Amino acid sequence: MSKSIELPGDKSISHRVAMLAALADNACTFTNFNTGADCQSTLECLCALGLEARHSGVFQRNPLRAPEQPLDCGNSGSTIRMLTGLLAGQQIPAILSGDLSLMKRPMKRIAEPLRQMGAVIELQNDEYAPIQLIEGTKQGIEYTLPVSSAQVKTAVLFAGLKFANTSVIEAIPSRDHTERLFEHLQIEPGPSVKIPAFSYIVPGDPSSAAFLIVAALFQKEEVLFRNILLNQHRTGFLRVLERAGASLRIVEERIQQNELVGDIQIQKDGLKEPIVITAEEVTGVIDEIPALTVAGMTYGFEVYGAKELRYKESDRITAMTSNLRTLGMKVEEWDDGYRVFPGKPRSARLRTFSDHRIAMAFLAAGFAVDDPECVTISFPEFFYLLNKIIS
Ligand code: S3P
Repeated sequence: MSKSIELPGDKSISHRVAMLAALADNACTFTNFNTGADCQSTLECLCALGLEARHSGVFQRNPLRAPEQPLDCGNSGSTIRMLTGLLAGQQIPAILSGDLSLMKRPMKRIAEPLRQMGAVIELQNDEYAPIQLIEGTKQGIEYTLPVSSAQVKTAVLFAGLKFANTSVIEAIPSRDHTERLFEHLQIEPGPSVKIPAFSYIVPGDPSSAAFLIVAALFQKEEVLFRNILLNQHRTGFLRVLERAGASLRIVEERIQQNELVGDIQIQKDGLKEPIVITAEEVTGVIDEIPALTVAGMTYGFEVYGAKELRYKESDRITAMTSNLRTLGMKVEEWDDGYRVFPGKPRSARLRTFSDHRIAMAFLAAGFAVDDPECVTISFPEFFYLLNKIIS
């Protein structure tokens, strides 16, 4: 009999429903809202803006008010970028800040389009947080993203809620949960935009599932992952694994609140070939690259055109390649990618660089890490569910 695993709610969708609920005309309720510290940062920022925001929903309909203190977005790039857009669109001045990792991540990518929309924004050295949002947006925009990013796209769409003519063009489409939520909630941007009160059941997070799927491949276990978000922009990693020989089946596919949801059944026969990720595929697997890398250690791994990895919670190219070298693997690294030659890793304790996805990738493959607690950023249930798979 196969094991059956249910995942906590998707992080990307949880951030978005909480932020949209903050603008809704009545209380909104959530089921299976993501339990990690990043989504908690979003809820706490909403509380600092005068709302009552919890995992179960956003209640108490006070209009948003300017925060008295800087908003602490913790480790969460989604919180700081999307919330800046949301507040700019609502004419709410604020200072948005975060932890040491967040203060090193690029923020000009949101300041630029928001400034073109008329917002007045100041950044540290015109690149980093704290973000000072001084004046909000005054007009819509048709914005072509220089680099595909769903966070930037969402910031622009949120900042343009009160204008009828905002759109975002991207060469390679990024995850489209914001557009799907707008459609599902019938949000029509414009001067009299209305966001209706809503309830939302958050489907299981495929990016969290990716680590457990890799663990299941290592165990050669048959495991059923139930009620997982199967949006095509989030399941690229399944196609990459299948190409490398993994045997998996999607069952019980259905549309739930304008998103594809279903079960993923992982069969027991592991991988048979190297994993190669092309530049065109990177956007669709960006968060799963650490997991895919450890899955590729036996037969080899290559990724191209992935400079964005350097701007995540850690520089993930450096974090992955330095750990792989510690494991005695032969690795080649370049500015926007790396290659791992097939091999057998030795045992070693690895560095997480305080990055939840670096930690979970190596933990899923059975290695020890220096800072296992950092998994709570996105997936506090990780150890409990990993144990279910390996025991
Ligand atoms: C996210 C978009 C991606 C992803 C992040 C979540 C989102 O970031 O890496 O974990 O929810 O929109 P970028 O927009 O920076 O690519």
